[in-house]
Amino acid sequence: APLRARNTFGVPATADLLLEVRDAAALPELFGNAMLRDGPVLVLGGGSNLLFAGDPPGVVLALGGQGIAIVEDHVDGALVRAEAGVDWHALVLWTLGHGLSGLENLALIPGTVGAAPIQNIGAYGVEVGECIDAVEAFERGTRERRLIARDACGFGYRDSRFKREPERYVVTAVRFRLQRAAASRLGYAGLAEELAAMGIDDPRPSQVAEAVCRLRRRKLPDPALTGNAGSFFKNPVVAEATARELHAAHPGLPVFPVPAEDERKLSAAWLIDACGWKGRREGDAGVSERHALVLVNHGAASGADLLALARRVAASVQERFGVALEPEPRIVGATW
Ligand code: EPU
Repeated sequence: APLRARNTFGVPATADLLLEVRDAAALPELFGNAMLRDGPVLVLGGGSNLLFAGDPPGVVLALGGQGIAIVEDHVDGALVRAEAGVDWHALVLWTLGHGLSGLENLALIPGTVGAAPIQNIGAYGVEVGECIDAVEAFERGTRERRLIARDACGFGYRDSRFKREPERYVVTAVRFRLQRAAASRLGYAGLAEELAAMGIDDPRPSQVAEAVCRLRRRKLPDPALTGNAGSFFKNPVVAEATARELHAAHPGLPVFPVPAEDERKLSAAWLIDACGWKGRREGDAGVSERHALVLVNHGAASGADLLALARRVAASVQERFGVALEPEPRIVGATW
């Protein structure tokens, strides 16, 4: 089966077998089949956080469940359950439409609900793990359904236990703990300014979502128009002393705190930009002219072309700053 229309980079790849499963209840029986039980299985959501550098080995599994429901309702909040196949932004709008806040800073992130906990999607000062109550998953080894509470999900910056053990679980649904009284989180640079420019000073959650959409539309290329997978690299986390030295040598370099006292997060976009990559193009593989952290497919680039460009970008940042960049999307069919 062709996968070009199933990855937002829009690169060609082929699956030996593509299975679309609407009802997660079918998984135990399906995984009784030797090919799924013993062989590699790639779970594909919106294809917005992976790069096909080659064809995926084995079976590609797409979960199509579209259900969203309030499973517990309280005066001050609710527990919302959404199935893995739901479009992420559609869920954000659904929750806002039901007067629930928590996900508004994560508006317009491409992809599905099932993919959200895997890389712990985050934007504008919020990570999805903060709003997750539990993840429903199918465990391949035992062929049983598991309810994994947030504390057991191992959430970190663009990280989770699902990402660290990619063959172990198939995420089938996610439960979100959301609020009725909004406590807007506007601390992220640019968000409060965007709301001010919209003439709003005490924003409702839907207005925060609108501001986030405006920022994203301005800063990030639309994958429907230009193939991309959002940030291609994670912002590197380095020792505090390293960050201090780099900042002394390059005062413009943005440095952010992380939970660990002795570490700091650097802006990968700034490092890449400083190496002159922004807007550069090699054939149809390029670095976005809007955002240095985003690789783009101008049309006919292959996954291998994009991976080769990514390696050159990382090598130049390594050489100039001594900082190692790591890809953020999952690379299929090659190793970084
Ligand atoms: N910058 C540059 N050149 C650029 C773009 C940015 O120098 O071309 C510098 C600026 O100084 C800017 C700073 O980088 O202030 C940070 O840029 P931005 O606010 O766009 O955030 P980011 O750290 O580059 C992260 C996430 C994005 C998320 C934004 C907003 C990662 C890997 N990326 O980007 O997530 O939308 O913050 O919260 O953490 C994604 O994961 O796919 C993604 C788009």
